[in-house]
Amino acid sequence: MLIWNLKKLNSINKIYLNIAQIQKIVSNDLENVNNIIIQNIGNEVPMISELSKHILAAGGKRIRPIITLLTSKLCNYEGKNHLSLAACIEFIHTATLLHDDVIDESKLRRGVATANDIFGNKTSVLVGDFLFSRSFELMVENGSKQILEVLSSASSTIAKGEVLQLTTVNDCSTSKETYLNIINSKTASLFAAAAEISAILSNKNKLIQNALMTYGQKLGIAFQLTDDALDYIGSENLGKEIGDDFKEGKITLPVIICIKKANKEEILFWNKTIENLNQTDQDLNTALILMKKYKAIEETLALANKYCSEAINALEVFPSSEEKLALESLAKIAINRSK
Ligand code: IPE
Ligand code: IPE
Ligand code: MG
Ligand code: MG
Repeated sequence: MLIWNLKKLNSINKIYLNIAQIQKIVSNDLENVNNIIIQNIGNEVPMISELSKHILAAGGKRIRPIITLLTSKLCNYEGKNHLSLAACIEFIHTATLLHDDVIDESKLRRGVATANDIFGNKTSVLVGDFLFSRSFELMVENGSKQILEVLSSASSTIAKGEVLQLTTVNDCSTSKETYLNIINSKTASLFAAAAEISAILSNKNKLIQNALMTYGQKLGIAFQLTDDALDYIGSENLGKEIGDDFKEGKITLPVIICIKKANKEEILFWNKTIENLNQTDQDLNTALILMKKYKAIEETLALANKYCSEAINALEVFPSSEEKLALESLAKIAINRSK
C-alpha cells in the first residue's frame, strides 16, 4: 500500500481520513477504473502495452480518478460513465507524465526508471500520444458534449502550461504571477476537470458545477506548490529525483522567492546556476541554504496551505457526508505528503 506522510493531518476540529480510508470508500469503483485502464491499453502493438504497463504498473497515487469517483458519489450519480471518465482522466495524466519526463530529462518516476530512460524519448512521446488519443476515445464513448468540452479544454490547457513553462526555463525574471499561471494550467486544470465532470454527469446546476471546479482547481494549485517544494526537500519516498528542477533551471516558487530577496552576490549565484546552467556539485546545497535563509520552502508550503483551505471552503455548498470528508481529507493530504 501507499505510504503517506499523515503527520499534522488531524486538526483540532476535525478528524480527517487517511488515504487508505479514502480509497476504501471508492474501492469497488477504483478496481473497475484500474481494469478499464488495463483493457484500454490493448495489446495490438507490443511496445505500446509494454511501455504503458511499465508506467501504469509502477503505481501512481490515482488522485485524479479518485476525485472523479468521490465527487460522483457526492453528487449521488447512479450511472456507470464516471468509471470510464475517471480512467480517461488517468490516461491524460499518464500521457502528460510521459511527455513531461522527456522534456525534463527525468530518470526516475514512481520509484522506477522513467519510460524515456528505458525505452527512449521517441517511444515515450509516441506512446504518450497514443494514451492521449485513447483518452479522447473514452471521452467520446462515455461523455456528453459538455463533458467533452471540459476535458478537451483541460488537455489543451495542460499543453499550453507546459509550453509556457518551457519559455520561462532559465529566466530569472519570471514573476510569481506567471508561475501561478503555469501551474494553474499544467496541473490544476486537470484536477478541476476531474471534479467538474461529476456535476455535469449528474445534471447538477451551475452552482454545484462551479463549486466542484473550484475545489479541483485550488487543490491542483496546492498540489503543484507542494510538488515544487518537495523537489527541493523531498525524501527517497518521493519516487522522483530530488533537485531535478534546479538542475534544469526550472523556475518554481522557492527560487522566485529567493531571487526577489537576493543580495547582489546571490543574484550572481542564481544567474550562474539557473540562467546559464553553470552548476557544480555544491550549487544545489547552496540553493538550499538560501532557501532556508529566506524561508522560501515555508512560504511555498504556506501558500499551498492557503489554496488547500480554499479548496475545502468550495465544498461548503454540500451537506456533510462521508464523501465530502474524504474530499476535504484529500486536499489535506495533497499538502502533507511525502510522495
Ligand atoms: C505528478 O502527479 C505530476 C504533478 C502534477 C506534480 P502525481 O504526483 O499525482 O503523480 P502520480 O500519478 O501519483 O505518480
Ligand atoms: C508536472 O510538472 C507535469 C504536468 C502537470 C504536466 P513537473 O515536471 O513539476 O512534475 P514532476 O515533478 O516531473 O512530477
Ligand atoms: Mg517533470
Ligand atoms: Mg516537479
